[in-house]
Amino acid sequence: MCGIVGYAGNRQAAPIILDGLTKLEYRGYDSAGVAVSDKNGDIDIIKAKGKLKVLYGLTDGGNKLNGLCGIGHTRWATHGEPSENNAHPHCNDDKTVVAVHNGIIENFSPLKAKLMRRGYSFYSDTDTEVATKLVDYYYKKYGEPLRAISEFALHVRGAYALAVLFKEFPGKIFAIRKDSPMVIGYTDGGAFLASDVPAILKYTRNIYYTDNHEIVSLSNDGVVFYNLDREEIRKEYTVISWDAEAAEKGGWEHFMLKEIHEQPAVVRNTVNYFLHDGKLDLSELNLSDEYFKDTESIIITGCGSAYHVGVVAQYILEDIARIPVRVEIASEFRYRKPVLNGKELVIVISQSGETADSLAALREMKEQGIRTLAIVNVLGSSIAREADSVFYTKAGPEISVATTKAYSAQLIAMYMIALKFAKVRATISEEYYTQLKNELLLLPEKIETVLGSKEQIQKFASEMMDKQDVFFIGRGIDYAVSIESSLKLKEISYIHSEAYAAGELKHGTISLIENGTLVLGILTQSKLTEKTISNLVETASRGAYVAVLASENTLGIPDSFKKVFRIPQTDEHFSASLAVITMQLFAYYLSVLRGNDVDKPRNLAKSVTVE
Ligand code: AGP
Ligand code: GLU
Repeated sequence: MCGIVGYAGNRQAAPIILDGLTKLEYRGYDSAGVAVSDKNGDIDIIKAKGKLKVLYGLTDGGNKLNGLCGIGHTRWATHGEPSENNAHPHCNDDKTVVAVHNGIIENFSPLKAKLMRRGYSFYSDTDTEVATKLVDYYYKKYGEPLRAISEFALHVRGAYALAVLFKEFPGKIFAIRKDSPMVIGYTDGGAFLASDVPAILKYTRNIYYTDNHEIVSLSNDGVVFYNLDREEIRKEYTVISWDAEAAEKGGWEHFMLKEIHEQPAVVRNTVNYFLHDGKLDLSELNLSDEYFKDTESIIITGCGSAYHVGVVAQYILEDIARIPVRVEIASEFRYRKPVLNGKELVIVISQSGETADSLAALREMKEQGIRTLAIVNVLGSSIAREADSVFYTKAGPEISVATTKAYSAQLIAMYMIALKFAKVRATISEEYYTQLKNELLLLPEKIETVLGSKEQIQKFASEMMDKQDVFFIGRGIDYAVSIESSLKLKEISYIHSEAYAAGELKHGTISLIENGTLVLGILTQSKLTEKTISNLVETASRGAYVAVLASENTLGIPDSFKKVFRIPQTDEHFSASLAVITMQLFAYYLSVLRGNDVDKPRNLAKSVTVE
């Protein structure tokens, strides 16, 4: 799940490519490389281990490379350790075919063996070198790049966005994709290719979203699309309306902090888009009221935080819309054999819209004839394009690997869908329906209030920075917030933590509580508060340092608890939207205090386009 960028035009390619890669580093950052071809087609490759800035330094921001056409890559290793040798671009022996690749070639092993039998040798551990040499093999056989690439596509299994330079075609890039994202842009100055829009938005707003198995050739003269039979195809471009600045850090220290603070606006945008003049309007989903009425059950699927949104939604949907809901981790769900009757609605949640497991789960369901609805942030992404209906969250580009504002926007999407189900099925009173809608409008302001207490959270983080283990516990929606809080903490602070349904702790895990272990209780669900408090007291009796996050009106918090953080009162179905903000800030400050790379935590990537 790396990032690729390509440029073919009338300007120096390498600075444009490196600049584009800086916008994609969220996709991978263990090594990087760039290849540029000069007017004779001679190709120069420079690669470096580590973050992009190493390559940047080595090439003086690309200025040391001369040529108007090139490709670049920032890697998140799947095959072979992060090293200069394994970094992309990869090439054939005489550097006449050079490629970058995002994805995994699943049958790289037999292909490698076959190529070896035909005299090829290999210098790296990557599947990408195999892909490059396979293209080279077919190029030598048929003497034509389009044919070589379509043969490549016919012989590989897996996911790829592959961009190739051929020495004999100076000034041209040939590319293809399957299941890994790739967008194309064109202006008078040249043609661009990238894994994601922000990388090229500075140069053009006219973006083509390529579909699986489409081949494209890029040059100063334009972009031409072909199908696998090498017949030219026509494609429409989309004009991107959002601003490149939305993907810049502004004055903030980290993208994550910026994105945390964008949450009131993001929630407001998403709410206002679908709720106007007091009316909830989900007509964009193209689902009739009959459909909402007749749906027998809902399956929600996603990965990581997106899955956690599903867990929150399950409580709400079942409570207010009285419809059975199942939440499934996409990587498990896709291989299960669920018993279905065709009357389910499958909701796939994904910020990027490119997560491999979520996409596969969506396809699996579509194949079985089940209606799919995607909640996606990235416009034109694979999941958005393939789902039957799309609910676009209005979070804007999210750069930090740890999701914050997209999670918040996904919650709003699920609240609205739950409200729609409840209204159509008449499972709540008109009065309560109106009350919930009004409460949605108040959430942005309440999130602002939580953000206002950040100094208190920062101070608490500084007191907790040496903790080895943290436990988050809660019941109901507070449990759902706990699993998200724990993930956030783990991914950016590297502190071990667990999230437990409060009542489950004593069935084993409580044996891990020692003197000083931090236990964070979440207390926003009034009917469950006393129960969770009892569970917290049980941990305190075993030496735990207990802190709680409670709603304004939560009563009965024992004096023995060491810290109490408050969030504004809201309807309890929506309390995750407030509680999570405190926990995001807690994780953020711990990460900063421990000197971690907040926006690009180790071993992770923003968009997980591999299994
Ligand atoms: C969250 O902070 C994570 N980085 C991760 O769990 C993420 O939510 C997950 O990979 C799903 O991504 P998606 O929403 O783009 O599908
Ligand atoms: N499989 C390729 C590699 O390991 C590309 C990985 C990616 O897309 O991140 O180099």
